[in-house]
Amino acid sequence: MAQTRKLLPTERTLLADHLLRLDTNDRRLRFGGMLLRDEAVRRYVDSIDWAHSWNVGLFDDGVLRAVVQLSVPRPGTADFAGAGTPWLRPGAAEFAVSVEKSWQRQGVATRLMAQAVVVARNRNVRDLYMLCLPENEPMRRLAKKVGINLVFRDGEITGHVDLPAPDQLTVFAEFATEAAAAIDRWTEIVVPPAAAS
Ligand SMILES: CC(C)(COP(=O)(O)OP(=O)(O)OC[C@H]1O[C@@H](n2cnc3c(N)ncnc32)[C@H](O)[C@@H]1OP(=O)(O)O)[C@@H](O)C(=O)NCCC(=O)NCCS
Repeated sequence: MAQTRKLLPTERTLLADHLLRLDTNDRRLRFGGMLLRDEAVRRYVDSIDWAHSWNVGLFDDGVLRAVVQLSVPRPGTADFAGAGTPWLRPGAAEFAVSVEKSWQRQGVATRLMAQAVVVARNRNVRDLYMLCLPENEPMRRLAKKVGINLVFRDGEITGHVDLPAPDQLTVFAEFATEAAAAIDRWTEIVVPPAAAS
């Protein structure tokens, strides 16, 4: 059964494998128009600072099939002037989303985005940004659906949404999602699927 939960820093390889399974066009769209070679994708994943990044993924049989990646600026990299890079301001975060082909158009990104918003709010992120190529119709539709405002400038689209402060419900929602995934996993370990049927 598919589960959604945050990735652990020890699951870097699952993230790299997922990004490497994206087809050529989806990989290009995911990385803002750059077609990264396999080695560059691995280097990118290795460079992720997990203290400033949260990845909410959908797993099927332990394989990561889709992910929303959130990253907040590292101390020292924040753009306090805010000129052109508002996602580097304190309290802001940037996100990117990817869903493997066979899982697309089933509401997976919509579901993961809702969970990523909860995770972001619980870390006091108040401004969420994304970058999108103009030709990326699926992402534009997803953004519209989840209430992200899109602004077209200099040949690219920036998406932005203001987030409210965290509350008891967001804290409970994140806990409940993680607990459900842990219980699923535990059940699969102690009751193997063959024995369960
Ligand atoms: C963009 C992407 C994440 C959407 O994932 P998804 O799981 O298919 O999205 P959902 O099923 O939740 O659908 C969200 C909306 O997008 C629309 N959509 C999804 N794929 C679409 C497509 N190929 N063409 C047109 N609309 C599409 C859906 O119809 C839905 O809107 P609706 O409910 O109003 O009809 C996925 O296509 C993807 O991974 N693309 C490659 C990477 C990428 O472009 N990332 C974005 C840059 S960060």
